[in-house]
Amino acid sequence: MKITVLGIGHVGLVTAGCMAELGHEVVGYDVDESKIEVVRSGRTPFYEPGLDELLQKGVASGRLTVTVDQGAAIAGADVVFICVGTPGLPHGGPNLTYVQEAAAMVARVATGPVVVAEKSTVPVQTGARVRQALQMEAAARDTEVLMSVVSNPEFLREGSAVQDTLRPDRIVVGADDEHGHDVMRRVYAPMLAQHDCPYVATDVPTAELIKHASNAFLATKISFINAVSRVCELSGADVEVVADAMGHDARIGRAFLNAGIGYGGSCFPKDVRAFDRIASELGYDFGMLRETDKINREAREWPMRRLREHLWNVAGKTVAVLGVAFKPGTDDIREAPSLDIIGELIEEGANIRLHDPVAMDQIRDLFPDAHFAASGVEALDGAHAVILCTEWPEYGEITPADLKARLEYPVVIDARNLWDLAAMRDAGLTAVQVGRG
Ligand code: UDX
Repeated sequence: MKITVLGIGHVGLVTAGCMAELGHEVVGYDVDESKIEVVRSGRTPFYEPGLDELLQKGVASGRLTVTVDQGAAIAGADVVFICVGTPGLPHGGPNLTYVQEAAAMVARVATGPVVVAEKSTVPVQTGARVRQALQMEAAARDTEVLMSVVSNPEFLREGSAVQDTLRPDRIVVGADDEHGHDVMRRVYAPMLAQHDCPYVATDVPTAELIKHASNAFLATKISFINAVSRVCELSGADVEVVADAMGHDARIGRAFLNAGIGYGGSCFPKDVRAFDRIASELGYDFGMLRETDKINREAREWPMRRLREHLWNVAGKTVAVLGVAFKPGTDDIREAPSLDIIGELIEEGANIRLHDPVAMDQIRDLFPDAHFAASGVEALDGAHAVILCTEWPEYGEITPADLKARLEYPVVIDARNLWDLAAMRDAGLTAVQVGRG
């Protein structure tokens, strides 16, 4: 099948690479020529494990090409995936301008029957708007090409995006005509032949809602355990034991019960607000989502509060910050909790020593006065305290002895509960973790 992917950001490029891997003929389109050039040379413009290899394989086989030419991208396509950005707006809803532009472009250029599949995360009822945009453009050009609208949300996580796409927990396809469903079944047939998973065929609004409901639920689970961690601190209980024991209940599950400094990234913060916004526009006050967001913002204040308890005045002190990416396995710093923490440290006059295994290039210009350390261990040298913001596995190799030997004062704020608390305290460190007594 011929598949077009509009927008080769994180979701688009992973989709393009994986569709080529499944044997489809894929064309990726983007307005950004520099991005196109990078991909054409078989590289990825961002850090995503396994994606380079997949793209190289796709390009070498001839099944994956990229272009800035709209006609070449769309002509003859069976399916066009819309993977353009939907950045958050100040009122909480997403900016859907690029989605509308992409739909109009398909209607302008399509030469035969085509399925227009939304993959960008969009609020429920966007499909109806996409259909309207297609019809407007078609009417203006007096064409009668069959265009079916489909919602096919992705559930990929950065850092494991390739695996999540090729071996998903479920595939969700919402369509409002049989042509849309038929074509999408053929798109996923090669994947389902190798990997058995539930295939949820539904209508467009239900598919759109599944995506927002899933992300909002996971975000709420994280905020729930972060709220529990506050009660643990006030009562002397241990949130790690609480989460483990809760997780043994199959109805709850242990995943996404890691207390810390909350969720960041390009999805959860934006999707929680967008879901609240669309619910309110439709007439339902989803106050629970605002509480999820509020608890998440408060979680970011925890490290500075604990730091001040131990250092008193932060001004003039040196603080090491380990991990800047919003989670391990990615160089993405969008909505990363670390940015708020570093911002506060700067505002309060601290000297900062920063390290992240892959996100250093994203932050050099943001914090020109910081010291950029060559390793996590080097970042500790001479610091009065360390704040661990991202639980990169390699930071797990740092021992209490390293911390003790390199830090000026023995203050450890482990905001992701990575290190062994008892071992740190035994080594004479003043160590604190989230929700642990
Ligand atoms: C998320 C969804 O998981 C994915 O299905 C969707 O398609 C896109 O959004 P992603 O943003 O890549 O994926 O990251 P994820 O692994 O879900 O983590 C999100 C944030 O939650 C990170 O900042 C992470 O540190 C935080 N988190 C996660 C916690 O604080 N505690 C946890 O227990 C789990």
